[in-house]
Amino acid sequence: MTDNSSGYVIKGGADGRERLRLLSRIVRPTTLSLLDRVGVAPGSSCLDFGCGGGDVCVELSRLVGPGGRVLGIDMDAETIAIAERERAANALSNIRFEVATIGEWPSRRQFDLIYGRFILTHLPDPAAAVSTCRGLLRPGGQVVFEDIDFAGHFIYPPSAAFERYIGLYSEVVHLAGADPTIGPRLPALLIDAGFEDVHVNVVQPAGLAGEVKAIHHLTMDYIRTPVLAHGLASAEEIDGVVEELRALADQPLTLMSLPRIVQTWGRVPLG
Ligand SMILES: C[S@@+](CC[C@H](N)C(=O)[O-])C[C@H]1O[C@@H](n2cnc3c(N)ncnc32)[C@H](O)[C@@H]1O
Repeated sequence: MTDNSSGYVIKGGADGRERLRLLSRIVRPTTLSLLDRVGVAPGSSCLDFGCGGGDVCVELSRLVGPGGRVLGIDMDAETIAIAERERAANALSNIRFEVATIGEWPSRRQFDLIYGRFILTHLPDPAAAVSTCRGLLRPGGQVVFEDIDFAGHFIYPPSAAFERYIGLYSEVVHLAGADPTIGPRLPALLIDAGFEDVHVNVVQPAGLAGEVKAIHHLTMDYIRTPVLAHGLASAEEIDGVVEELRALADQPLTLMSLPRIVQTWGRVPLG
């Protein structure tokens, strides 16, 4: 089995948490429709695998209600500390957070539903992670993943800076041993792990204005350290791409998308 303890290339901590908050606001409508299609039963016990700042844990908490439980795990201790402070401030007593690294987490707990967003793309061995999820679910339990196909971005009119950003991001993720285009692989990963009744849906937020355009320059800035460490671009070039992405976000006639996002869900056989 490959080690799943490394691979995350984007800046974490407090800055990373604010980027995730922005991303969560952009994809909230499509995540909510996914959870609605899957059907999260009141009273159920859920795990958010690689929960980041816990934004989806909050949605799950509302769906499972006071009789249910949500556990969010993530390896970023600073992000989990922020999530825990926000949980306490909002008195969400059915959520718990744990600092844990996928692949090293010894849990034997049986969950009704495991959810993961934008996590498998960062893992060197996503098949092992999906198989771990299978072992953590009770018979009939559901797994739900949504993840990116970074090659599926689009922009109009075309932009060299945007293409360079996609190329640099994809390269650092590959160099970390992970897969920036994992989205289309998700259904096969579920089927190979023994899930049945596997469904697929594809979504892609895009717009001429607003936060959907403001995420790109942040992401480019937050992969600066591995880009420099691998010698893929100079600091000056990174600054230039960040500035150009920021300028594109302000241009009212430029249409920018997020990566294509593949959503998939399946069930552990009852027998
Ligand atoms: C792109 S963020 C997504 C966070 C959250 N699921 C969301 O959609 O807002 C990926 C998260 O996975 C976490 N992560 C990456 N590799 C991990 C690993 N091996 N074990 C646990 N967490 C990991 C990172 O710390 C980060 O918070």
